[in-house]
Amino acid sequence: MVLTVNAPSREYPIYIEDSYGGLAEAVRASGLRGSVALIVTDTNVAPLYEGAVKRELSAVFSKLQSVRLHAGEEHKNLNAVSGLYQKAAEAFLDRESVVFALGGGVVGDTAGFFAATFMRGLPFVQLPTTLLSCVDSSVGGKTGVDFAGWKNLVGAFYQPRFVYINSGTLATLPRVQFNSGMGEVIKHGLIRDAGYYNFVSERRADIAALEPEALKRVIEGSCRIKAEIVGLDEKESGLREILNFGHTFGHALESASNFKLPHGLCVMKGCAAAMRLGAARGELAEVDLLGFLELARFFGMEEITGGAGLYAPEKLAALMRGDKKARGGAPRFVLLERVGAAKIVSDIPEEQVKAAMALC
Ligand SMILES: NC(=O)c1ccc[n+]([C@@H]2O[C@H](COP(=O)([O-])OP(=O)(O)OC[C@H]3O[C@@H](n4cnc5c(N)ncnc54)[C@H](O)[C@@H]3O)[C@@H](O)[C@H]2O)c1
Ligand SMILES: [Zn+2]
Repeated sequence: MVLTVNAPSREYPIYIEDSYGGLAEAVRASGLRGSVALIVTDTNVAPLYEGAVKRELSAVFSKLQSVRLHAGEEHKNLNAVSGLYQKAAEAFLDRESVVFALGGGVVGDTAGFFAATFMRGLPFVQLPTTLLSCVDSSVGGKTGVDFAGWKNLVGAFYQPRFVYINSGTLATLPRVQFNSGMGEVIKHGLIRDAGYYNFVSERRADIAALEPEALKRVIEGSCRIKAEIVGLDEKESGLREILNFGHTFGHALESASNFKLPHGLCVMKGCAAAMRLGAARGELAEVDLLGFLELARFFGMEEITGGAGLYAPEKLAALMRGDKKARGGAPRFVLLERVGAAKIVSDIPEEQVKAAMALC
């Protein structure tokens, strides 16, 4: 199954497969000409999938290099990028050498930023291995790292040549990481597609059991939504902002936890806060909020973060004021018009915001 991302800066395919068997063919089809491949992965993913990827890539590249980053958000920083520059310089990579990001969103964002900046840009391929990276971070070209406690403060828009999803890799993903990916999946449905949201809600048990057909529809549905939005607004000058639904709240929570809480679970909590805010303002039906909360609880929203608030709303509100999207003005919020449609609102009194975050 192949989808296409039609971004103004590049058009590229997303392959949705259940093994790495088609990877060499995908490289050939992409027209990449280099003879050297650099596989960037992490310490958890390497023992599981690096061997299979190397076997495939050795059919098309004469030289394979690999780097294993330390796993985890706390390593998504400029030190990791610097280590990649060092390795790339020592290995004499040239501008046709191809960077493969094999791992979750941390590897994809870090390797993507490295690829965007080394020698002013090396061709780059996403091989996502977490649900979150399959359905969200590998598509759309946002790359970057955290800096001095701020999420994604340093980065670049840089589209991959293609994305190759092997859904088989999700079998080894820890449950909490799977649930984290479901945060972005549910978000996609909420902001753009009620039919997809209802499918996820109805088939929740099959999805959690990794039933292949349901899982494929989840990945396909989310990639389609993400690809469509990125195609319409690649650089986030308008529509793409709706992908930040749940993220203004979510980033505050993530940062309050010192990045210990998984991103997508913070997003789930953030969606809950945004929907509470919408309901409190009389703009969202209570029944939609309740339906969402039930679904989010099924996918573990409260197992990690607790049912009650983990942090004081004042602390979270202060972190939100520092969110980079708020620079130069009041924070902008993405709220729901209804399930399947989002809108941007900027003039929300802080008291309302704090009340909505009381359970974060
Ligand atoms: N660029 C974007 O558009 C975008 C969008 C959403 C999120 N993000 C970023 O993505 C990051 C989160 O990504 P993530 O949730 O994939 O986390 P992650 O990359 O930290 O991966 C989660 C954990 O799972 C391990 N892992 C990965 N694949 C595995 C597999 N198949 N089997 C077993 N273990 C595996 C990893 O080593 C890690 O320990 C955050 O930094 C977030 O800011 C970026
Ligand atoms: Zn996100």
